[in-house]
Amino acid sequence: MALSVIILAAGKSTRFKSRKPKVLHHLGGKPLLDYSIALAEALSSEKPVLVVGPETEAEIQARFGKRVHYVRQTERRGTGHAVMQAQSLLEGRSEQVLVLYGDMPLLRQETLEQLAARQEESSAALTMLTIERENSGGFGRVIRDFAGDILRIVEEVEATPAQRAIRELNVGVYVFAADFLWANLNRLRPSKRKGELYLTDMVELASSQGLRVMSVAATDTTEALGINTRVDFALAAAALRQRINERWMLAGVTLLDPASITIEPGVTLGQDTIIHPNTHLLGQTTVGESCELGPNTVIRDSTIGDACRVFASVLEEAVMEDESDIGPFGHLRKGAHLCQGAHMGNFGEIKNSTLGPGSKMGHFSYLGDAEVGANVNIAAGTITCNYDGVRKHRTVIEDGAFIGSDTMLVAPVRVGRGAKVGAGAVVTRDIPPHALAYGVPARVKQTQEADNEQ
Ligand code: UD1
Ligand code: CA
Repeated sequence: MALSVIILAAGKSTRFKSRKPKVLHHLGGKPLLDYSIALAEALSSEKPVLVVGPETEAEIQARFGKRVHYVRQTERRGTGHAVMQAQSLLEGRSEQVLVLYGDMPLLRQETLEQLAARQEESSAALTMLTIERENSGGFGRVIRDFAGDILRIVEEVEATPAQRAIRELNVGVYVFAADFLWANLNRLRPSKRKGELYLTDMVELASSQGLRVMSVAATDTTEALGINTRVDFALAAAALRQRINERWMLAGVTLLDPASITIEPGVTLGQDTIIHPNTHLLGQTTVGESCELGPNTVIRDSTIGDACRVFASVLEEAVMEDESDIGPFGHLRKGAHLCQGAHMGNFGEIKNSTLGPGSKMGHFSYLGDAEVGANVNIAAGTITCNYDGVRKHRTVIEDGAFIGSDTMLVAPVRVGRGAKVGAGAVVTRDIPPHALAYGVPARVKQTQEADNEQ
């Protein structure tokens, strides 16, 4: 059955107190609104219709482009009035209309599917999502008759004390029979207290015509969490974190102190990996099996193999192959690549460089635009001087080379295989395989081994 989706996001969000549109604030690595749009895309093959206010329209459009249809609600006359803005675009296009908000990131796809299925099988005027909760602040209350049928929804500001005591709450998510919705929307009348056109009054319009109103109760009340203030935002972040963390724990990943661990939705983790406190795995990050990450680690958009160790370090767009390790206090930047078994100790930085299999860089060194072969030893304080003030240049260090402490490699430069560089050298010219270089600027001393090579 064809389903259209309307996402309401035209509210003024005054309580959020932000210069930036509330729905563009990032939660779990993506804008709040992305969650609702992704749900709409999962449920319907048609683009969702997004109701936006004039103040935020341009910024939201700049972020989401053609993923949605935009309709503008200039005067903010309530949720019913917001849906009216989509009528001319959607009327006659589908049998069902799902309405949800742009600020409810914890809604589940399964829940919405249940809602649509119940609406379809019951041929009601609409099916609404409810929760039961003690603390009902801000929610509309569901009023039923003695037979248990839903009569109407009463907004908190309009409710009598007895109605306020009702614990069955309106989440604000509905699947309407499209015919009913479009034929009755214009019959909404301004509410007593706020003078708004309440979408919730569609329930009474249905019941008073003898039409049925169905409901689905969400068992997980976090699904109903709407973000009005930054306090709600923090609650949603915690709930999202918990949901994702539990999924990984049940999949065989150990999380020590999960409340301090962030795993964004795009991250994947292998079995028997252990994550220590205050570790944040962000973006499109992939981690293999039996790794140990953290504590105090941030990894973004990186790929980590099996049996790796990352201790108190920061990784951005980096790759670590199996059995490599880093830390404490290492920094892998964009394009850093530790090959199998490579070791990087404390206070190192690698950017756009490969540290070959089994190679070691133990103490405060910098590799930029470098290609380091296998089993190379880079001693403390080595630096690739990759930038001459105008351009970046490459450094190549071939297999088995030994770079002494405090060496400056002035790129472009190549250190041949098996060559040795004495401590404190400033290397400005290529060093042949197996040669020895030392001093400032470095002189090359041919060794027997090197002579044999040539
Ligand atoms: C609404 C429901 C309430 C429900 C609650 C759940 C109504 C009248 N009440 O109340 O029963 O328990 O949600 O969170 O619907 N919006 C517009 N244009 C407007 C007004 C609102 O686009 O003119 C959008 C907002 O951006 C927001 C959503 O609609 O995404 C809900 O608006 P809000 O003012 O938060 O509704 P509540 O008073 O919370
Ligand atoms: Ca709200």
